[in-house]
Amino acid sequence: MAASSHSRATRPTLHVSSHPLVRHKLGILTDERTDSKTFRELARELTTLLIYEATIDLPLSEFTYRTPLEPATGSKVAIRVGLVPILRAGLGMVDAAADVLPRASVWHLGMYRDETSHRPVSYYNRLPETCPDDLVIVLDPMLATGGSATDAIQVLKDWGARWIKFVGIIAAPEGVTQVAEVHPEVPMYVASLDRELDARKFIRPGLGDAGDRLFGTNGVG
Ligand code: PRP
Repeated sequence: MAASSHSRATRPTLHVSSHPLVRHKLGILTDERTDSKTFRELARELTTLLIYEATIDLPLSEFTYRTPLEPATGSKVAIRVGLVPILRAGLGMVDAAADVLPRASVWHLGMYRDETSHRPVSYYNRLPETCPDDLVIVLDPMLATGGSATDAIQVLKDWGARWIKFVGIIAAPEGVTQVAEVHPEVPMYVASLDRELDARKFIRPGLGDAGDRLFGTNGVG
């Protein structure tokens, strides 16, 4: 089934970017010939564009100040935002997200997917006792089975996060369905909704392993 046939109507929480720059950069990112340096640059650029779309509804408050010529009224983001990259691959998105949200806190969650069970294994969580943020944005370039994102979002809910968004680069329909079923109020912002998962639970056509491509560990170890 063509990815584009998955309508927003059946997945109201999914936002697939149609921005021409996103589509252009995605084509280079997913190309097998793209080296790690370029892959990292494109992951950052795509993240900037996706965060722009994912923050379209941030509440603002007004403040008064002076320009060099006269008094003026400005706007500022009225809430605290937290960024939660899922290690490892989420690290490829966090710098770009923090650049456009410079006052955001960054909280790390470490998870890897067990190669046999395909279930996420949590290995790092140093969240403080209470969640200080009004909005928490989960960053992970890949949404495959959705297990990692679903578990991460549950951790954040248990922590006290009240408003959660997911920002990724490539999603499989299976992962989107999984997150939407378990966390229907969590919107997902991605650059691409790909065709399917294969028998190894890799996204097809996909881009391979985002962590390996970001950090140059393809075929190592
Ligand atoms: C990848 C990816 C997600 C997860 C997606 O991480 O970055 O975290 O798999 O798969 P899922 O939706 O089926 O849970 P990986 O296990 O390769 O770890 P890494 O980021 O350390 O490379």
